[in-house]
Amino acid sequence: MMNAWLSKFKSRLRKKEVKIAVVGLGYVGLPLAMELSKKGFVVFGIEIDRDRLTRIKRKETYITDVSSQELRNALSSGRLIPCGDFKILKEADVVIVCVPTPLKGKYHPDVSFIKEAVKSISRNLKQGSLVILESTTYPGTTDEVILPLLEAGGLKHGKDFHLCFSPERIDPGNVKYPISKIPKVIGGVTKKAGFLGKAFYDIIIDRVIMVSSPRVAEITKLLENTFRIVNIGLIDELAMMAHEMKIDIWEVIDAAATKPFGFMPFYPGPGVGGHCIPKDPLYLYWKAKHFGFRSRFIKLASDIISSMPEYVVERLEDILKVKNIKLKKARVLVVGVTYKKDIKDLRKSPSIDIIDALQKKNVNVSYFDPLIPYLILNHINLRSIELKKNNLEKFDCVVIATDHTSLDYAFILKNSKLIFDTRNVLKHKKNKKVIVL
Ligand SMILES: NC(=O)c1ccc[n+]([C@@H]2O[C@H](COP(=O)([O-])OP(=O)(O)OC[C@H]3O[C@@H](n4cnc5c(N)ncnc54)[C@H](O)[C@@H]3O)[C@@H](O)[C@H]2O)c1
Repeated sequence: MMNAWLSKFKSRLRKKEVKIAVVGLGYVGLPLAMELSKKGFVVFGIEIDRDRLTRIKRKETYITDVSSQELRNALSSGRLIPCGDFKILKEADVVIVCVPTPLKGKYHPDVSFIKEAVKSISRNLKQGSLVILESTTYPGTTDEVILPLLEAGGLKHGKDFHLCFSPERIDPGNVKYPISKIPKVIGGVTKKAGFLGKAFYDIIIDRVIMVSSPRVAEITKLLENTFRIVNIGLIDELAMMAHEMKIDIWEVIDAAATKPFGFMPFYPGPGVGGHCIPKDPLYLYWKAKHFGFRSRFIKLASDIISSMPEYVVERLEDILKVKNIKLKKARVLVVGVTYKKDIKDLRKSPSIDIIDALQKKNVNVSYFDPLIPYLILNHINLRSIELKKNNLEKFDCVVIATDHTSLDYAFILKNSKLIFDTRNVLKHKKNKKVIVL
């Protein structure tokens, strides 16, 4: 028989009586808040960035996966309540934390955003509420860092509140897998917390998998992203090797991918960006060191992927040399500056590193990106060119760094003198003026 507390919680969920707070309205938090409000729940969206908060209140989106129309609907229904004050948590039954987890320096996790958010939550937590951390972090964060901070507010876990970790696994821009279709893993500090967390996600996610502890849930996410970084690092290295051996790595991958089992294709590129793959495995690397364990795979893969923008610049120099053009004297156009296609997100974008490296070498570099009209970042201060025939003709080489779907690649090909295609987007248009990574 189901425990009375669980059936009561499920019944309140069914009746939409449960009020939810999402802390941090970024790429993860805002789509989640929208999904919950669409399901009929009242959602308090807590955000400390004033600019983001103002934009939400103005019904203006800043996240590709959420449209301004969806925001308008949620706000006018009264089921999305954006707010900068944690006092509203006194009314929330479930609190979901989706704040950033960046790196400090090259290899150190920075959980200061989590700590700050949790301190504010602990001062305002409602009796009996459920707190769930979704930010990606190292194993141990939930029970070593968050639990003591929440209890420091005077509440006792298991009696006054319940705590879980459930990693977010969204893939921004991937319409095939909306939130509801991505299975969710959850681990509670206690079994009761886990059951409450599972009951909660069951209302919006098709499949929820409960694991034995927050640590298992935390490391599950890091395994997924370590798997990606290692395979991307491997294929990047093989691409560099194949180039030396004068073999087309893209043809090799396509051939290998015909094997119906035991192989999964990964593709080389100019580097890996975003707020996940480049840094998440390093959280694990750092934590493992506390146990005297040094992961060679994570370090190697991380070093390889972060060297790719530099490799692109070296290859560009060689490509131009063949045409008797010195890199320093060349005019270069970088096409695509976001870290990923079709997403308006510049975080850790390899294109930025490429532009930065070219500018440091005094190369005359411009960019084109339909999603980013201006690029004012680090030392870069550029405006996207217009993709016109007479503009393209001016450049000695066009570097395709991000393969946005909407671009007219046939037009780029027709009007450019030389193209360095780091994404193999022109694979069906093989042409002498196209050089692939
Ligand atoms: N972006 C992705 O594709 C993705 C996918 C899966 C998991 N994640 C993980 O989810 C977490 C969030 O990532 P994101 O991409 O949404 O980050 P983001 O920077 O887009 O959003 C985080 C938001 O939290 C806000 N914030 C910071 N401190 C706060 C506080 N104390 N109170 C209220 N709001 C606060 C920030 O202002 C920001 O708007 C990270 O741990 C990330 O690794 C991200």
